Amino acid sequence: MDPETNNPIAVFDSGLGGLTVVSELARLMPAEPVVYLGDSARVPYGTKSLATVRRFAMENAAFCRRFDPKLILVACNTASAAAFDELRATSDVPVLDVIRPAVAAALAATDGPIGVIATEGTVTSGIYERLLTEAHRPMLAQACPLLVPIIEEGRAENPDDPIVLNALGDYLHAMQRRRVGALILGCTHYPLLATAISKLMGPDVVLINSGQAAAAAARDYLTREAMLAPAGATDLRCFTTGDPARFADLSERFAGHVIENVQAVSTDELTGACS
Ligand code: DGL
Repeated sequence: MDPETNNPIAVFDSGLGGLTVVSELARLMPAEPVVYLGDSARVPYGTKSLATVRRFAMENAAFCRRFDPKLILVACNTASAAAFDELRATSDVPVLDVIRPAVAAALAATDGPIGVIATEGTVTSGIYERLLTEAHRPMLAQACPLLVPIIEEGRAENPDDPIVLNALGDYLHAMQRRRVGALILGCTHYPLLATAISKLMGPDVVLINSGQAAAAAARDYLTREAMLAPAGATDLRCFTTGDPARFADLSERFAGHVIENVQAVSTDELTGACS
């Protein structure tokens, strides 16, 4: 049966970073029901092997399918890098990622070299390098393993925090020298550091928020397929493999508002969802 227009968009991430994508979805399509899974018990994905992240992503997607979604949005660059092709090939539900929309947005934003900052896993996968090289665009990728913990610890709120500035200064040095025209924030956590990054890179460098680009791609897809939800109130259901209270406490930082009624799901249940 074809999914109904008021079936949800299912979104998953390794933890809370994907909530930046949920807030973009709500901004662009306030009537869309959304189901969100944050796999906080197994965060970070960025330092794990691509094979492990692929397995997690397949389990997350299988859980998402329980809600009969009309679309699955992989709101994590690392999971997109590890599993997008397999997810697409095995899913009867359309799947979108965050990487391809970010590349398209960066190519449209500048004719110059493009920088990418991301987790180790995303950089190691070589996916941004492959897509940008196919588009004949010079690029530079930098893994930034300290940024997710800094953000998760709440240090991103002060763009003048010396820990934030030192880490970013180190990671962005080569990007500044290369004079990139656009810098892809290739991790859904990084929009929380956008102010500090912009300060260091200067006003001429366009920052590409991969989640924002993916939300726009989701809207374009649903519009094209005549699958947009009829007007109504936003309906967001959140699940976490971590602690629901911690998820709710930290949610405002990522989503812009406090998310209540977060439901727990165990990783055993996710493993079961896949079998
Ligand atoms: N949000 C994930 C991403 O976009 C990174 C966080 C992690 O390492 O789990 O890659």
